[in-house]
Amino acid sequence: MDARELEKIKKLFQPEVIAVVGASKDPKKVGGSIVKNILANGFKGRVYAVNPTAREIMGVPSYPSLKDIPDKIDHVVVSVPADKVLDVIEEAGKLGVPVASIITAGFKETGRADLENKLVETARKYGLRILGPNIFGVVYTPANLNATFGPEKVLPGKIAFLTQSGALGIALMAWTAMEGIGLSSIVSLGNMSDLDMVDLGEFFAEDPNTRVITMYIEGIATGRGKSFIEVYKKITKKKPVIALKAGRSERGTKAIASHTGSLAGSDNVYEAAFKQAGILRANDVQELFDWAKALASLEKVDVKGEGFVILTNGGGIGVMATDASVFSGLPLLDMPEDLKAELRKHMPWFGSAANPVDLTGQAKAENYAGAFQALLKHPSVSGVVVLYCEVAFLDPVELAKSLIETHKQYNGAGKPVVVAMVGGERTREALKLLDANGIPSYPIPERAVKSIATVYRYSQYLSRNQ
Ligand code: ACO
Repeated sequence: MDARELEKIKKLFQPEVIAVVGASKDPKKVGGSIVKNILANGFKGRVYAVNPTAREIMGVPSYPSLKDIPDKIDHVVVSVPADKVLDVIEEAGKLGVPVASIITAGFKETGRADLENKLVETARKYGLRILGPNIFGVVYTPANLNATFGPEKVLPGKIAFLTQSGALGIALMAWTAMEGIGLSSIVSLGNMSDLDMVDLGEFFAEDPNTRVITMYIEGIATGRGKSFIEVYKKITKKKPVIALKAGRSERGTKAIASHTGSLAGSDNVYEAAFKQAGILRANDVQELFDWAKALASLEKVDVKGEGFVILTNGGGIGVMATDASVFSGLPLLDMPEDLKAELRKHMPWFGSAANPVDLTGQAKAENYAGAFQALLKHPSVSGVVVLYCEVAFLDPVELAKSLIETHKQYNGAGKPVVVAMVGGERTREALKLLDANGIPSYPIPERAVKSIATVYRYSQYLSRNQ
């Protein structure tokens, strides 16, 4: 994609001027809730509404049509009924608007491919790019932009999420916020009449606010298979990409056809395409964000050293994490003697300085801090899996604070670190605190191990493809 087209996509996410056509005073209507969300998130650019009768909507100046707006519009959000969309696109095109997101449903997905083709044809005539139709909109947290009719708040972060499913995307806006997962962007792709996973991938590959690209994909747009592989092959050498592809089973494939009308094709074809392009494939939503969280915690993925170390206060979870490491291909370090000697200073005589390092159930926050520091400093250690089982005399929040401090002071090398804490309410609180401080954390050891193993896998991929 040339620089001019990329610049148009940039306006989708970072417009200076956004106009909502089909805005309404009623915040329960789609157009009304989009204006409400744009305002509630403190978008710093200028906002205009287009409505046949209103002259002001929620404090935003409103005009009867786009051409009446006395400003140069970067991004038009279209939320008028399907039979009115074409006129809006024609007008936006004439005004030289670079990009439009079309919320409206009732096109290809309902058998009206003719109407959709006409839209694209009209937009092409003017060089206007289209996202959608049939979408819930776009979020870009670095610009405080939430031009969707989804939930108001999305937690800012470094993960971009592209979704072909509207409902899933909307649901995950709220879910990620609840789980403490920070996002740079959420993009609803809908029918992909023009902009698709390939175009948006090119934007996010260059986006300094995004470290990891994640996607929920049902099918690649017709005729775009080859470009998808070629473009993502380049992107994955710069940034990790994780895909959740629905329709693995035959019945699932049939269900896709009636959902977005995508030609889903056989799952093996996608599996091969992802492999060729270096895309990591997650099995479910949980894996998608578990892995993304771990990858997004690192400024640069470059695993060094000779192996990973598990640090625990419980033998049982240590063994579970060891099994998970073996099954997910995470190499565990054969502990060098100097490291063992250092670790023994932070445990009782009945602890273990082997791998897993067992500080025992009586470990205090300072024992964890000492051992964690030793592991972060030692050149043989590639990364650390910290485990904790909730015990009465070590408060998980106190431990989390101490881990955050040690991590801040001694992880200048940027080693991958994950934490799993098993316990109750207080443990939940500790996990949130760790996540908010850039340490990916999980409520069970296996999820932590699989996530750090993904970081390792991606690092291996990078070294093979330099
Ligand atoms: N220019 C500007 N404003 C206009 C125009 C026009 N040409 N025509 C109508 N309007 C105004 C209307 O007057 C109305 O404002 P008002 O409340 O002040 O009267 C506003 O635009 C909206 O028009 P309505 O006719 O009230 O339409 P409504 O809001 O009911 O529906 C919508 C429009 C939301 C685009 C609908 O047609 C639609 O497509 N809904 C589905 C959206 C969707 O689900 N997208 C996929 C999401 S992904 C998922 O699965 C969740």
